[in-house]
Amino acid sequence: MNVLVTGGAGYIGSHAALRLLNDGHAVTIVDNLSRGNRGAVEALLPLGDVCFVETGLGDRTGLERVLGDRSIDMVMHFAAMAYVGESVQIPLQYYHANTAGALTLLEAMDTCGVKRIVFSSTCATYGEPSTEHIPITESCPQRPVNPYGRSKLVVEQMLRDYQHAAGDGFAFAALRYFNVAGCDTGGRLGEDHDPETHLIPICLQAALGQRESVAIFGTDYDTPDGTCIRDYVHVEDLIDAHVMAMDAMKPGEAMAYNVGLGTGASVREVVDATHRVTGVDFAVTEGERRPGDPPTLYADPARIRAGLGWSARFTDLDEIIATAWKWFKTHPRGYKKSISH
Ligand code: UFG
Repeated sequence: MNVLVTGGAGYIGSHAALRLLNDGHAVTIVDNLSRGNRGAVEALLPLGDVCFVETGLGDRTGLERVLGDRSIDMVMHFAAMAYVGESVQIPLQYYHANTAGALTLLEAMDTCGVKRIVFSSTCATYGEPSTEHIPITESCPQRPVNPYGRSKLVVEQMLRDYQHAAGDGFAFAALRYFNVAGCDTGGRLGEDHDPETHLIPICLQAALGQRESVAIFGTDYDTPDGTCIRDYVHVEDLIDAHVMAMDAMKPGEAMAYNVGLGTGASVREVVDATHRVTGVDFAVTEGERRPGDPPTLYADPARIRAGLGWSARFTDLDEIIATAWKWFKTHPRGYKKSISH
């Protein structure tokens, strides 16, 4: 198949592109490199039929040209801004990138007759579910509490409305990610955000001596050890879900699935696991709560198990962190100044 991967230079999109290439698909990456890494594209280029187009989703003419020239069959749409805190500071940029960007993409697909898309949604669309909704099923009310979550929820609604109007002429899967973690087990691709805000990369940077310590944001939550609980799913398992959704998608289908393990790990457990995996006893401090962090978020993955036959291969947190550690050790400065280049 000919697959368009938007955001294919980013952490998750690049892993998707790698998997699609390994499966023998032709991949077209569209990325404006505002958050993505040219180094990720460079790592992918020798691996198969890859075409990289450096453009943003605002460029409808460019998108239509790509969809036509590369005879695109389906789209995996990853391109987005994805920092909750930042979305509160610059909401318009989030709606522009995430909501307007998806709209332009759908319009271009409509014009070009591309009828299938897998969309990167998020557990942030659920907001702060009450305890009776934990673990979170897909029928948990979607009440996002920040512009990031809202900018993604609108896209889910847009997809639903468009599919309803198009009938068999359009199908989609909205995959609601929990906390994506780990790196390519082959060691070619990794996680390189600037700035870095995610817990596991921050712990690994501390293990590399690039940070003096890791601050735990809040130790007084109503959880067994007082720190927040999240559901860490390996990036390769997440991409597996995309491929399964792509393969299973029938004309006129509208799918929404949570992608998480169904078990949570606390911040302290992640820190302890990182100490174990790296063998480095980096310093840990206890800080204030980070605004907007719900205490406990983990998925009920029953629907995706039943609907697609998906289950995670990586269920052990140490193993997940070890795949990321492998990349961080060989790429201590990320893609830009990696020691393997
Ligand atoms: N944390 C720390 N110290 C740090 C960084 C994070 O204690 O230095 C804590 C956070 O407070 C949180 C947990 O570690 O409790 C995980 O934080 P991350 O930033 O790694 O991930 P989030 O759960 O905040 O964010 C993830 C995705 C978002 C998505 C969100 C939905 O990265 O894209 O889940 O809630 F929107």
